Amino acid sequence: MANASGFFTPSVPKLRTKIQPSMGISRSGFCFSRRFVCSTGTEGAEKQVSPSESRMPKLVSKGCKLVGCGSAVPSLSVSNDDLSKIVDTSDEWISVRTGIRSRRVISGKETLKDLAVEAARKALEMADFDPNDLDLILMCSSTPEELFGAAPQIQRELGCKKYTLAYDITAACSGFVLGLVSAACHIRGGGFRNVLVIGADGISRFVDWTDRGTCILFGDAAGAVLVQACAAEEDGLLSFDLHSDGEGARHLGAPMSDDKTDELLGSNGSVLDFPRKRSSYSCIQMNGKEVFRFAVRCVPQSIESALEKAGLVSSSVDWLLLHQANQRIIDAVATRLEFPPEKVISNLANYGNTSAASIPLALDEAVRSGKVKPGHTIATAGFGAGLTWGSAVIRWG
Ligand code: ACO
Repeated sequence: MANASGFFTPSVPKLRTKIQPSMGISRSGFCFSRRFVCSTGTEGAEKQVSPSESRMPKLVSKGCKLVGCGSAVPSLSVSNDDLSKIVDTSDEWISVRTGIRSRRVISGKETLKDLAVEAARKALEMADFDPNDLDLILMCSSTPEELFGAAPQIQRELGCKKYTLAYDITAACSGFVLGLVSAACHIRGGGFRNVLVIGADGISRFVDWTDRGTCILFGDAAGAVLVQACAAEEDGLLSFDLHSDGEGARHLGAPMSDDKTDELLGSNGSVLDFPRKRSSYSCIQMNGKEVFRFAVRCVPQSIESALEKAGLVSSSVDWLLLHQANQRIIDAVATRLEFPPEKVISNLANYGNTSAASIPLALDEAVRSGKVKPGHTIATAGFGAGLTWGSAVIRWG
């Protein structure tokens, strides 16, 4: 097992509180004038300058705040009754055991990348922020349509300038919390100022639609949050607590199918059959009971730890926002932490478990409906395959 503390001890000599769009961020994390963008060697790249000429190491901030959010869901809605036509289940069984009533599923020409871009645009619009000024895009997803990651394609679709760094984070249903903490680390220690964190998953593509134990749970969606450097006193990430445990991976996964390499070789090592067949991932395999037990045991502990690091107790926090996996898990965690139902954010009835998208999707709905207001504190937690789990105490706006 591994864990990460939510305490920062930044050795920042001087705070720079105002966002200065005239400054850019290099991939080494140092600030430099936007006029001197390092050449990528591709068409249209701007003048290359030597690091000694242009890079001035400057740590920029002690704080980071969440200033915009957005979300997007596919158009196709699949109800429990729809599912009862393809597997032996019922609306009553699904809603009583999970709280889920319907889910959105990518279909036709829709893509996960497009959902991610739509969510990102909405987050940037809310913050009235120009995508050209983004320093970093983190795409938290376990199901990108590109094996090597989708973040750079999203960077291109948003029309960001070349110096915006973009990369993917794979951590299933904990992806968004890990992305948020990674954004904070980049801002607090790495000189980045404006980081877009996207949580997006198209789990429906990896579901066995004949397995009633799993196909009822999942849906597809994307959500995004813009995280921005700020002064320490405005900080919006109050604490965090992160864990992983590969021992538990056997309870939940979608492993790559065997590629049967041995069968390609003759007894003397000669190649019998070539080219070899392409690898693919199997559908999600889950021991629901074990995952349930893991969630109700580990998530409250993690949130308690994050609350303690933030110097808070649950009664002083405005909202509890958990990864939307199962209403029974949400209720059990809320009861254990003594959060009353009116302080618990839940929208999984409409979307099911959307993996890395579930927290930013629920946050976006809560912000746009006026439930979550600037200054409100939120205890949030993700958990899932890996196994990974983690919590963060955040302040909105
Ligand atoms: N409809 C009707 N009956 C069903 C269904 C269904 N959809 N699914 C299972 N059953 C049956 C089983 O076959 C079993 O029947 P039996 O008693 O005759 O053998 C009975 O219902 C009970 O099955 P359980 O699996 O014990 O049901 P349980 O109460 O545990 O609920 C569930 C299953 C909903 C999956 C629950 O275990 C759960 O939510 N677990 C957590 C899942 C989760 O949160 N996953 C996170 C994934 S996140 C990520 O990282 C991808």
